[in-house]
Order: sequence, then C-alpha cells, then structure tokens
Amino acid sequence: MAQNPLFIVFEGIDGSGKSTQVRLLAARFEACGIPCVKTAEPSTGPFGREIRSLVVRPAPEEEARLFTEDRRDHLHRVILPALKAGLTVVCDRYVYSSVAYQGARGLSPDRILAENRAFAREADVTFLLEIPVPEAMRRIGRGRGNSFSVFEGLEELTAVDSIYRGLKDDLIQRIDGSPPAEEVHERVVQILRRIWPCLYM
Ligand code: TYD
Repeated sequence: MAQNPLFIVFEGIDGSGKSTQVRLLAARFEACGIPCVKTAEPSTGPFGREIRSLVVRPAPEEEARLFTEDRRDHLHRVILPALKAGLTVVCDRYVYSSVAYQGARGLSPDRILAENRAFAREADVTFLLEIPVPEAMRRIGRGRGNSFSVFEGLEELTAVDSIYRGLKDDLIQRIDGSPPAEEVHERVVQILRRIWPCLYM
C-alpha cells in the first residue's frame, strides 16, 4: 500500500542540528523514490523576508504576529500545495518554534499554540532534537563565526529549551541531537519506519 504524503517537522533550539537533519531526510526520501520538498520557517515569503531583515527585535506580540503571518503564507504557498500534489514535506521549524521562542519572551505558550492550531495543519510527526544549551552555544559559535543573531542569547536559549522540554504532544518524537548527524538521521528513519511500516526507506 502506498503511503500518503507526510508532513514532517523538525524542531529544536538553534544549534540542535535541524537543518542538517532536514537535508539528510529529504535526500533519503529522494533516494528511495519518495518525492518530497524541503522547506523552512521563517520562509522565503514576504513576512519571512521581513523577519530575516530585522536588526532590532520587535515587541513580543508583534514578533509573534510576524511569525504567524509567515506561517499562514508558507502553508498556503508551499506546504499545502506540495501535500496536495503528493509530495512529502520536510520542514525546518513550525508551530512549536513560535510556542517556544515567543513563549520565552513572556507570551503565553498555550495561547500561541491555540492561535496557531486555529489555522495551521498539524504535522504528522515532529522530531524534537534535544541537546544541552551549552553544546548548542558552542555549535552556533563554530558554525556562524561567533556572530549570534538577534534570536540567540544564552539566557534566551535556556528559556526556549525549557519550553520545548515541557511540551506535551503524542506526535512529538524526542531525539538526542548530540551524536554525529548520520547517527541522528538513522534514528529518525527508524522512528518513521516504526510509525509507518509501509514506508519503504
Ligand atoms: P533558524 O531556523 O535559526 O533560521 P536560520 O538557521 O536560517 O538562521 O530561524 C531563525 C530564528 O527564528 C531562530 O532563532 C528561531 C526564530 N523563530 C521564532 O522565534 N519563532 C518562530 O515561529 C520561528 C519559525 C522561528
């Protein structure tokens, strides 16, 4: 039996290795003849571009609004059309990024979740990559020449991490993001095979 296209999300703090896992999984799907698209939030749409161009952080409510509008646009422009066309979608960050990051700025995580659930299609599975905050800070420093973005301070990452760790959702698969990327990737594939045994990969 063929598997319906899946909507797969990767979440985690900056430096947890999401982008690498998104890339490895998309390549794996392609290699197995499973058509897929790789995408990310903030997206490349108008709100995503506005977010990436920020030099100073807006007030928390305004920041949450920008990410929510970007998600709405990204869903209608990329995610839903891809799923409709039979493509599996592998997405770097989604609703739980807003819950964790804008929650860390003092907004209510429950309220952000409710506002997003009102319009955002639920992911079929969310892989939450967990690594200790100091390790994430080391990785960010290494990968980006020590120029931390406006979203990446130690205190903030700690607050973001604690919200991610407290999330309760049966569709979240928590994975240790510390091992080498290939090992983490094999764990992701194992979990997908366990959940969808008819997925040939
Ligand atoms: P990130 O995935 O780090 O993009 P890149 O690797 O291309 O820099 O996302 C940029 C930042 O945006 C990241 O620090 C988390 C933040 N973010 C939010 O605060 N809320 C959200 O809803 C999303 C999607 C991202």
